[in-house]
Amino acid sequence: MNFRHVMQGLIRFFTLTLLMLGPAFLMTGQAEDRSQDQQARQLLAARCAVCHSTDLIQQQRLPRDRWEATVKKMVHWGARLDEAEQAMLVAYLAKYFHPEARPVVERDRSTAF
Ligand code: HEC
Repeated sequence: MNFRHVMQGLIRFFTLTLLMLGPAFLMTGQAEDRSQDQQARQLLAARCAVCHSTDLIQQQRLPRDRWEATVKKMVHWGARLDEAEQAMLVAYLAKYFHPEARPVVERDRSTAF
């Protein structure tokens, strides 16, 4: 075994490792995103929906700074969220309910009485 063989072996080993681990890292990122979204939704249901429905929240289309102000205002009014929970919720709200997000689909009123 000479030096070149060892080097080639090493390079092959690292390339394979990268190929196998790359997708795993990507998937962990997505899973993390999903679980953060899930936690934020749980916060919405448990800490925001105690006073009004989540419709009132989800129909808004606000930029991040307005979500920050809104969440602060709600905390001031009695929503129970610590700093970390507020940050997580603001990130979630700004990600999905921003000004460019699709408008809330109008409910079909033709069947309403
Ligand atoms: C202590 C009761 C209470 C809690 C908890 C609460 N809210 Fe509110 N929220 C209100 C009241 C009162 C209004 C005004 C309702 C109205 O205008 O009909 C309001 C209105 C809103 C509005 C409408 C826009 C505005 O600024 O008035 C948004 C958006 C909102 N809340 C988001 C949230 C979010 C997000 C949470 C969780 C962090 C939350 N609220 C928790 C009481 C609460």
